[in-house]
Amino acid sequence: MKFFIDTANLKEIKEAASMGVLDGVTTNPSLVSKEGHKDFKGMLEEICKIVDGPISAEVVSTDLDGMLKEGYDLAKIHKNITIKVPLIKAGLQACKRFTSEGIKVNVTLCFSPNQALLAAKAGATFISPFVGRLDDISTNGMQLIEEIVVMYENYGYDTEVLVASVRHPMHVVEAAQIGAHVCTMPYKVIEQLIHHPLTDIGLQKFLDDWKKLKG
Ligand code: E4P
Repeated sequence: MKFFIDTANLKEIKEAASMGVLDGVTTNPSLVSKEGHKDFKGMLEEICKIVDGPISAEVVSTDLDGMLKEGYDLAKIHKNITIKVPLIKAGLQACKRFTSEGIKVNVTLCFSPNQALLAAKAGATFISPFVGRLDDISTNGMQLIEEIVVMYENYGYDTEVLVASVRHPMHVVEAAQIGAHVCTMPYKVIEQLIHHPLTDIGLQKFLDDWKKLKG
């Protein structure tokens, strides 16, 4: 399973990249706004220098012409830029156009199997179902991932299932067990994946025993 980091924080991206586990980056308007990046394109250029993999950059237009204008402009920045479009009619139309021209597309804000089916039919490179936001409203987000993976396998769609809105390490484990292609996670979750109390206790014991030997 590919690991993407879900952030617009350059320090976090550098830190995760240094661990050697990072395959890509997802951003969205909220994440960019949180970091106060006024120069969106400049921020994307910086990210492309750090990570050699798909970098999702979301359009903010909600009409086809606007999405195409923004998307073409963003795609010029780097070959790894993946245009992120919302799962609305204009988003599907833009997806079809971009992918037919070789531009990678991440269709975002997916909350149902039928939406995922439409994105695959429109040629999406990635579909982003939001598990955490479904869990937040007492709906099983991971069940949606399972349903999409089965549907895509049934028909051999190339669209990769990108598990988004990840909130904790169990989301990552379950996504991998289901066979999702990608999991995008906040830096905090990547850190949480590393830690185990028995690792810390074991390491401390090794170091203490080594000290005893050295006197
Ligand atoms: C990433 O592509 C999504 O925009 C992101 O994972 C949404 O996460 P949130 O539900 O925690 O805002």
